[in-house]
Amino acid sequence: MAAILNRYPLTFINSINSRGNGLWIDPETDTTTIRPKGGFGGIGGQYAKPVALANVRAFRQRLRADIGIIGTGGVTTGRDAYELILCGANLVSLGSVLATEGVGAFSRLTTELKAEMAKKGYSRVDEFRGQLNTL
Ligand SMILES: Cc1cc2nc3c(=O)[nH]c(=O)nc-3n(C[C@H](O)[C@H](O)[C@H](O)COP(=O)(O)O)c2cc1C
Repeated sequence: MAAILNRYPLTFINSINSRGNGLWIDPETDTTTIRPKGGFGGIGGQYAKPVALANVRAFRQRLRADIGIIGTGGVTTGRDAYELILCGANLVSLGSVLATEGVGAFSRLTTELKAEMAKKGYSRVDEFRGQLNTL
């Protein structure tokens, strides 16, 4: 995929979208919660984060340096945003948490991200972007 994308004048890509296919059932009502399509659809939220981290990192290692990456998938805390940036994300987007928490999630996550950065001794995101340690 990266080899194909590298042939085009792209500014950003987004990785990932929801993971399919999934079905989620409300335990109180035994009703599917994903709509439309009767519960047959994509899964976002915390289940998506490991896949998002891996794909953002894999794209960062393979895409042209001038193509930015919007990291998406499973971000519910500032630490999640931090981890996507650590894997190479230039921007981080929110999906499910906006649906459950509303726009207040932006300020909460910003505060949490700043706290995580302070804990690690960083004042700017470009100090740790793509700096994942590996064994
Ligand atoms: C309510 C809702 C609606 C969405 N609608 C779309 C859509 O129309 N097109 C699309 O490509 N992704 C859509 N998504 C997927 C999100 O953009 C995002 O890629 C996905 O939910 C993973 O991020 P998350 O783990 O933060 O939810 C939607 C997600 C949610 C929660």
